[in-house]
Amino acid sequence: MTDDSGPERRSLAELLSKNGVLTSPWLREAVEAVPRELFLHPGVFLDEGGFWRPVTATGTDAAEWLKIAYSYDTLTTQLDGHLTADQTADPVRGVPTSSSTTPATVISMIESLGLESDHRVLEIGTGTGYSSALMCHFLGADNVSTVEVDPEVAERADIALETLGYSAWTAAGDGLLGHPRRAPYDRVIATCAVRRIPHTWVRQTKPGGVILSTVGSWPYGTGLAKVTVDDNGTAEGQIIGRSSFMQARSQAVVPVAGDLSARTAYADSERETKVPPTLLDDWVPAFLAQLAAPGAHLVRAQSDGTPLLYLFDPDRESFAEFLAHDGGWTVRQGGPVPLWDRIEEALVAWEAAGQPEIDSIRLRITQASHHYWIEGAPDLNWEHRLD
Ligand SMILES: C[S@@+](CC[C@H](N)C(=O)[O-])C[C@H]1O[C@@H](n2cnc3c(N)ncnc32)[C@H](O)[C@@H]1O
Repeated sequence: MTDDSGPERRSLAELLSKNGVLTSPWLREAVEAVPRELFLHPGVFLDEGGFWRPVTATGTDAAEWLKIAYSYDTLTTQLDGHLTADQTADPVRGVPTSSSTTPATVISMIESLGLESDHRVLEIGTGTGYSSALMCHFLGADNVSTVEVDPEVAERADIALETLGYSAWTAAGDGLLGHPRRAPYDRVIATCAVRRIPHTWVRQTKPGGVILSTVGSWPYGTGLAKVTVDDNGTAEGQIIGRSSFMQARSQAVVPVAGDLSARTAYADSERETKVPPTLLDDWVPAFLAQLAAPGAHLVRAQSDGTPLLYLFDPDRESFAEFLAHDGGWTVRQGGPVPLWDRIEEALVAWEAAGQPEIDSIRLRITQASHHYWIEGAPDLNWEHRLD
């Protein structure tokens, strides 16, 4: 392994320890051993107020490159599902589709997996391969399987891992299907967000094994689910905190195009709201809203400078439109599912229960259902059936 970045790796480990993120001695060793810069080839995009500035390893002063590689930030490595930093000289607009997540998040997730040296792990969302490398350092590469949906991203990660001597089981494919070839696993970790934990992951995990994944799809409204698999093909656990990741590719939300007022022309009902829809700007209410109305998207738009707010469920052809007026909000709803009625009921119950944090939410997964609830709050209880 290269020693060029030894001081930066040790400083990163020190900072992570000081911040209380890094606690396991083995993981500290891994952070000190694995060069993050190796996983950033050919380069990264730095966020500069709406534009992404490409920075490549070869086009950047060595000290500056190391400073970027060991920053505490998420480093975007691909935009719009194809663009890498070596393919453009100028700053560009775009949506990040692959990255090296901030070490703070990667490390705290690995810490909460409770890994033991003989564990077999499945990672969904290889990305750069940096997090895979940290686990390979401890478990041995043969115990690490990692699935990446983008074949080019998977190949770059595989090359970087091999450079360090880690012949992990890297596979290009849809991680929502897991990786049955190396199952069963002791641990499954997803570093992309999913709308719900697929039952395939439960099936591919040993009884007593743990699955850790960000669930939800609304920005600033997703939670980190940690569930333990039972011996009867179910899994149960809780949302252990707030968490934010790019969405699994097949589930990425495509912005609603066109004029939403055309979709909301015919409403079935109109009334005053009991709580303001702006409550959905807050993390826990946004998470609860997705439990109360799975499939609904929160859409913000503008008309002649006036902010507009909608809930929209394309599959159920249902909407809610919010109109602000002096002292309150009017909601107009249409379609078979009264989206706001359901969400509002959850928000009122959440306020009545004393606004519990996201980690009070429990969940149980069976093959046919996902059940979420908050202990002691009977109105905060949802069963999403798949059959
Ligand atoms: C935030 S990055 C991964 C971060 C990475 N593990 C690290 O070392 O920091 C998320 C990755 O998930 C991948 N991804 C998205 N949907 C996926 C899916 N359905 N199956 C597997 N990978 C997926 C993306 O292409 C992207 O590379």
